[in-house]
Amino acid sequence: MLFKNVSARFEIENSNSIDVILEHNGYEMVKKLQEFTPEQIIQEVEKSGLRGKGGGGALAGAKWRLLEKAKGKKYIVINADESEPGTFKDRSIIEKDPHLLIEGIILTAYALNSNDAFIYIRGEYQEQAKILQKAIDEAYEKGFLGDETIHKYNIHLTLHRGAGAYICGEKSALLESLEGKRGHPRLKPHTPSPEYFFNNPTLVNNVETIATIPSIIKNGSSFYKNLGVEPSCGSMLFGVSGHVNKPGIYECEFGVSMLDYINTLGGGVKGESIKAVITGGVSTGVIPFEIVKDIKLTYEDLRKAGSSLGTGGMIVMNESTCMVKALKNILSFYHDESCGQCTPCREGTFWVDATLDKFLDGSATLEDIEILKSNSKIMNGKTVCVFAPSVSTVIDSFLKYFQDEFIAKIKVDV
Ligand SMILES: Cc1cc2nc3c(=O)[nH]c(=O)nc-3n(C[C@H](O)[C@H](O)[C@H](O)COP(=O)(O)O)c2cc1C
Repeated sequence: MLFKNVSARFEIENSNSIDVILEHNGYEMVKKLQEFTPEQIIQEVEKSGLRGKGGGGALAGAKWRLLEKAKGKKYIVINADESEPGTFKDRSIIEKDPHLLIEGIILTAYALNSNDAFIYIRGEYQEQAKILQKAIDEAYEKGFLGDETIHKYNIHLTLHRGAGAYICGEKSALLESLEGKRGHPRLKPHTPSPEYFFNNPTLVNNVETIATIPSIIKNGSSFYKNLGVEPSCGSMLFGVSGHVNKPGIYECEFGVSMLDYINTLGGGVKGESIKAVITGGVSTGVIPFEIVKDIKLTYEDLRKAGSSLGTGGMIVMNESTCMVKALKNILSFYHDESCGQCTPCREGTFWVDATLDKFLDGSATLEDIEILKSNSKIMNGKTVCVFAPSVSTVIDSFLKYFQDEFIAKIKVDV
């Protein structure tokens, strides 16, 4: 069930150097670029069933078609903002295999008739930005990027550093920020549409999504489609952190049991037992052990469990975890990171954060449980982006499974 080399070549030493990676078939597909038509590449991605790895799981091929059909100058933007707590897979790709990402960008740009690509990297990734810039410079020197490339397709790639705002991972806020404006999400069109960068049609894809493209083109769409369990095709860089003995990133086919993953690749729980798991970055909410034990890592299983696969970054909590403190920790983050554009999000995250303080300082009453629930309701479905609905999901999941712990913090006068 464990696979390597689909989205990153982790086992090669010094794999972020172009000379090393060229000795290991680096840029193999780019060297053969002119053997493919752009349409062939798009079709392979469509047939592979590849889904976006940035959290939403949208079909990559369908998104590519939207850009392919759009008129005008086209841009490719790679989302390397990766600010979701519990998620560090893109960082691993950038550190270990930046040239695979660049190769994926070249293939994507060629397929979609774009000559300009950007990578938007989160501000806190200072070391990773250096690694990536070095890799980009090397790719220019070797003629994989630039005006006169060895593969005869002109492509320029620019690395742009964010300033440390979680919301700039949301694709439209990212593009606002890349345009030099404040990173506020945009209103979404009612029909499927590409994104727009300075009014030009643009594709925004996650780092891992694009790093998977060379493998799909090299091995064929059926190779990728046959991994996993339909309709969750392929593999993913699942991450595990929290109370486990071996936190890290391990690539698996979809369909692996969550518990097996935690017990084998994650080295098992640190402590007596698993109490709960946040399934795919904090925004996906929490599920208790009774559900964890039967879950397979697929989009469908997690949806059925009322959660989602998200970024694949699991956070394991053992029996010693106070769920009130855990939710407070998450809400402090959300309160801090709400961009403030929409009132339900700006005020809702403030009130929930403040209400959770009352549970921890002993001043909460039963009414505060209702305040948490009503704020969650107010935040759901009434904002420009899905930041606030994700916060609702998190609050609801903690209250659904662990309300007793919140009630136990309420002091009753006798
Ligand atoms: C609040 C918020 C934060 C997000 N942060 C990220 C992020 O850090 N990286 C990412 O790739 N996608 C992030 N997304 C999802 C992006 O909006 C977008 O769907 C994704 O980059 C598309 O790429 P994909 O189709 O390859 O997954 C975020 C979404 C929201 C609502």
